[in-house]
Amino acid sequence: MKMIQIIIGSTREGRVGDKVAKWLFGLAEQRKDFKAELIDLKEWNLPFFNDPNSPGSGNYSYDYTKKWSKKISEGDAYILVTCEYNHGYPPSLKNALDHLYKEWNGKPVGFVSYGGIAAGTRAVEQLRQVVQELHMIPSHDEVNIPFIWQAFGADGKLKDAAMLEPRAKMLFDGVTALMK
Ligand SMILES: Cc1cc2nc3c(=O)[nH]c(=O)nc-3n(C[C@H](O)[C@H](O)[C@H](O)COP(=O)(O)O)c2cc1C
Repeated sequence: MKMIQIIIGSTREGRVGDKVAKWLFGLAEQRKDFKAELIDLKEWNLPFFNDPNSPGSGNYSYDYTKKWSKKISEGDAYILVTCEYNHGYPPSLKNALDHLYKEWNGKPVGFVSYGGIAAGTRAVEQLRQVVQELHMIPSHDEVNIPFIWQAFGADGKLKDAAMLEPRAKMLFDGVTALMK
């Protein structure tokens, strides 16, 4: 069965990204048409990209890059969960993307964003440029969560889950349609 890897883009202490991604992962696990895996860049703790070789060569100098390559190779598609920092994506996410090349090529990618009034959409617009260069296939549908600091209740659940779940379904449907 095809595998969608859901990547948590933010890594800071006290981040919300893990909550957003875990909500999405819970929905993904209910699907019968693909398997899902949650990938946390905070756990991966990749250093700033510093390989003397271009990732396009696939000739990785460091064990952590080889391990990252192996993990990402297991994915048939990806969903990037991104916050918005100063109208852009978080550096941790760009760094994780930059470490590899062929592993991303030709694979579908979807986006979940969150932030203030713009719900992280400016970060996604920038990410669309990046994934284009990585020869990924971006899905049109997105989940965008505004005012993230008030999006989760005291019970840890998304207050607008009823509104956002159909968006997540559209995203899953869009990404799976692109998986060959
Ligand atoms: C350095 C920094 C810059 C931010 N810039 C933006 C921004 O440009 N647009 C926005 O909507 N929210 C912005 N925010 C608020 C974030 O959307 C909010 O803090 C969110 O929780 C960040 O994701 P994280 O908790 O997963 O790190 C910024 C937050 C930080 C820490």
